[in-house]
Amino acid sequence: MTTRLIRSIGELTTNDPSLGDGTALGRLRDAAMVVDESRVLWVGPQSRAPDCDEVIDVDGAAVTPGFVDCHTHLVFAGERSDEFEARMSGATYDGGGIARTVAATRAASTSDLRTVSHARAAALRRSGVTTLEVKSGYDLTVEGEARLLDVAASITDEVTFLGAHVVPPEFDRDAYVDLVCGAMMERCAPLARWADVFCDRGAFSVDESRAVLGAAAAAGLELRVHAQQLGLTGGVALAVEVGAASVDHCTHVTDDDLEALASSTTVAVLLPGAEFATRSRYPSARRFVDVGVTLAIATDCNPGTSYLTSMPIAMALAVREMGLSADEALYAATRGGAAALRRPDLGHLGVGARADFLILDAPRAAHLVYRLGDAVVARVERVAPALTRP
Ligand code: NIG
Ligand code: FE
Repeated sequence: MTTRLIRSIGELTTNDPSLGDGTALGRLRDAAMVVDESRVLWVGPQSRAPDCDEVIDVDGAAVTPGFVDCHTHLVFAGERSDEFEARMSGATYDGGGIARTVAATRAASTSDLRTVSHARAAALRRSGVTTLEVKSGYDLTVEGEARLLDVAASITDEVTFLGAHVVPPEFDRDAYVDLVCGAMMERCAPLARWADVFCDRGAFSVDESRAVLGAAAAAGLELRVHAQQLGLTGGVALAVEVGAASVDHCTHVTDDDLEALASSTTVAVLLPGAEFATRSRYPSARRFVDVGVTLAIATDCNPGTSYLTSMPIAMALAVREMGLSADEALYAATRGGAAALRRPDLGHLGVGARADFLILDAPRAAHLVYRLGDAVVARVERVAPALTRP
């Protein structure tokens, strides 16, 4: 086991309130950290740093936990820039374009799909993402969804089955819901950790979504829900009812939704890239924070509503447009994402955490959102996940 000392850290964000300044961010100045190949072993003041096998001197730079991007749809072929352009001049998003990506994805070879998907994951990692979730949902046939899950599992161990993305054009809705709950679930559940459903206007109703989530839970999957991106449909309450780990989008929420979330274990995942690229009104993140809802921020990387491969830009949008502080956005992009994936080993740098961290080309983590589009993340240290498939 090789020990490494990260020394001369100007500002260390641990996200462990038992360390440093006692806030949620657990900040230390003039700090040092010791890691081995997989875990954080020690955190403390520079003056008390122990000897290690190797030393990385970061010369006053800020160090943070790696970003946990808990919501992506990066396994797809084709592109939909024409829809983006149309929205910028007033068209509205209704999910109808998903069928275009389904057609392009079905037509792509597995090797091309792997190449483009891995390139998107690599872009996210360059932006500082050390763990990412990847969904299926752009094939909508039994074998096709299994193929997308296989590609996803070659990227990450946080794989999500989203057969219930929309009803494909060739199907009757009831027959499709039956297929997702039956043969598709049976084929796909062993290939994923999570199941998700797009419970929204134009996609699946609350009752249809409840059926899919029930079948998923019975098949041993843990649950996440896309809800209330397009309207107040009752999807947030459903996510709480079924004990989902997260409810994602929440562009529209009622005070009752917020109260239900605050007294649940369901994390609200905000996706500012989606409001940006659909030209929608951003939800106020303050409404969530003020009542005590656990928040995460993610990219939602997908061809229709958020072709975003940068977590710092997602964080900056959450600060500028949703009302989070820079520190709240950092926490939501790290420990919040880890909570949404039920991964207590991620998103912080307390002793025993996975040694996923970022060395910034900046003295303070606030530069992540201050220097928009700049390469503030200078070095990404990531423990490779134990993939379920090569
Ligand atoms: O999270 N909302 C549903 N799914 C994706 C968009 C899918 C698409 O338009 O291709 C999302 O925004
Ligand atoms: Fe999404």
